[in-house]
Amino acid sequence: MVLSPSKIRKFQKTLFDWWQDHHRDLPWRKTHDPYRILVSEIMLQQTQVLRVIPKYTEFIEIFPDVSTLAASTPAQVLRAWKGMGYNRRALYLRSSAKAIIESYSGIFPDSATELIKLPGVGIYTACALLVFAYKQDVAMVDTNIRKIITHYFFDDKPQKPIDIQRVADQLVPKGKSWEWHQALMDFGAMELKVPQASQKKQKPFRESNRFYRGRIMDRLREREIAEDQLISSVSKEYGSTKEYIHTIIDGLIADGLTTKKENILSLPES
Ligand code: ADE
Repeated sequence: MVLSPSKIRKFQKTLFDWWQDHHRDLPWRKTHDPYRILVSEIMLQQTQVLRVIPKYTEFIEIFPDVSTLAASTPAQVLRAWKGMGYNRRALYLRSSAKAIIESYSGIFPDSATELIKLPGVGIYTACALLVFAYKQDVAMVDTNIRKIITHYFFDDKPQKPIDIQRVADQLVPKGKSWEWHQALMDFGAMELKVPQASQKKQKPFRESNRFYRGRIMDRLREREIAEDQLISSVSKEYGSTKEYIHTIIDGLIADGLTTKKENILSLPES
């Protein structure tokens, strides 16, 4: 779909007028440091803004720059990640920091082709870095931006990703990409009511693997522990079978979130 210049200008004005009165003051908006933008974007991938705010600030205090994070142990990063869930993101972030130091002499690349080579960085996160760190005029499309475009330009009828991207590309105001995307983020979060239909079918969180992974990781953040002791205590506390807890632990080991040495489980030190 090719948009007319007047349609583009009208939509840009509507959004920027709305944003004047509604913009949120978020800590990662006070920086253009690509390292800090990456930390915020990885945290925001699966966690709500209100929960990310304090964790982001804490994380940046502990790991203020890419070299500090690259020099850390996985155990240190996983401890700083407490309360965030989806712990693999913490390991990706640390691996990305190591790659930046080792392969890019500590300087973040400024092209999507290079950025997507970093662990945990897909095309959306790469574009977020280009926009929020380097202010490039590229169009990011995440779930909310897709919803905004589908609603305003396609009458809420779902479209192929390429057609959404083509509209998104035309809408970016030259030289104002940073503001534009922050405004879209705020509009998506505050104005769009996301239907929760898909969530209804999900099992209760307490019955999910993710719940048990979280509980086990929290125990390992406190101290190392013998595997059989951990299995007994978790299965007793939550009324699950020992076999089930065993498979959860195996999954954590396979994901590099836990190490086992002579039956002792701990957070990985390297
Ligand atoms: N989600 C992802 N990036 C964001 C940002 N910069 N502001 C608010 N929410 C976001």
